[in-house]
Amino acid sequence: MKLKFYVAMVVCAAFSLQALAAGPEPIVIKFSHVVAPETAKGQAAAMFKKLAEQLTKGRVRVEVYPNSTLYKDSDEMAALQKGDVQMLAPSLAKFSGLGVKEFEVFDLPFIFPTKTALYRVTDGPIGKDLLKKLEPQGIVGLAYWDNGFKNMSANKALLAPADFKGLKLRIQGSEVIAAQMRALGATPKVMNLADTYAALKSGAVDGTENPSTNMLSQKMNQVQTHLTVSKHGYLGYAVIVNKKFWDGLPADIRASLTSALAESTDFEKSYAQLDNDRALQAIEKTGKTEVYVLSTDEQAQWRRAMQPVQQQMAGRIGQGLVDAINKTTAVQ
Ligand code: LMR
Repeated sequence: MKLKFYVAMVVCAAFSLQALAAGPEPIVIKFSHVVAPETAKGQAAAMFKKLAEQLTKGRVRVEVYPNSTLYKDSDEMAALQKGDVQMLAPSLAKFSGLGVKEFEVFDLPFIFPTKTALYRVTDGPIGKDLLKKLEPQGIVGLAYWDNGFKNMSANKALLAPADFKGLKLRIQGSEVIAAQMRALGATPKVMNLADTYAALKSGAVDGTENPSTNMLSQKMNQVQTHLTVSKHGYLGYAVIVNKKFWDGLPADIRASLTSALAESTDFEKSYAQLDNDRALQAIEKTGKTEVYVLSTDEQAQWRRAMQPVQQQMAGRIGQGLVDAINKTTAVQ
């Protein structure tokens, strides 16, 4: 009996020593997103993982789940609020689902004339104030990531606003994007990114919008004969974390994660345009999708057709915010 007791004690001590030698369990950050690993967002998420683990010397483990493998667009925000996932980088079009409708200002047609004008908004007081609006929802906004300007695609040429009449178009869940499609005479259908390829293939929808990198990596180009480089709208992201999780981290860990994110953000912003240029070339190279770049005059026609959206949606977004953005972007 005594011998059994001593053996048990020795085994227990051995396990405890082993646990001590291995150190405490790392803090796990599940980082879920809906795009492909090779996109700028996908690569920046992977870079964040590497840097976060290095800078915290293994005290943090980041698990990146790309391509909607953990959550789709429609359920990722609720999962973050519940703490089932700690980090996301949803497109700005998806924040109105949280009740923060102001983010839909980023979806207004032709609102940002250039990337420089956009950065004046995201890196300035407007961008910071918008992120602060997430806190009552239990979310901290840490950074903006970029994915550039969107194209339109369908199985017919889309040259003039009249070409959209009667088309069913897959969109993200933003009322501003819906209004924009209606202004073109099309019918918007809100759908998860992960379901878009199948819907385009089956004909459940006729067309869609996205920057080239998403069109290529989600295989949309394989089921769309025409793509128009229209730059009619902007696609960006906010990197967000569960507030309770973030506030509960030891200060030194939070500082290391902040550094890791700053470096990943610089990379993401510098790579987004290259990524989209590369993707557009790859789409053209397949020879299956005809790529058309709108002329300045044609773009002006699209702009006129979509112009009423700004007025229609000002009440939803806030006229003051729309005016502030127009003022900020107008500076030369
Ligand atoms: C979408 O169309 O849902 C995408 O913009 C998603 C993304 O994260 O880029």
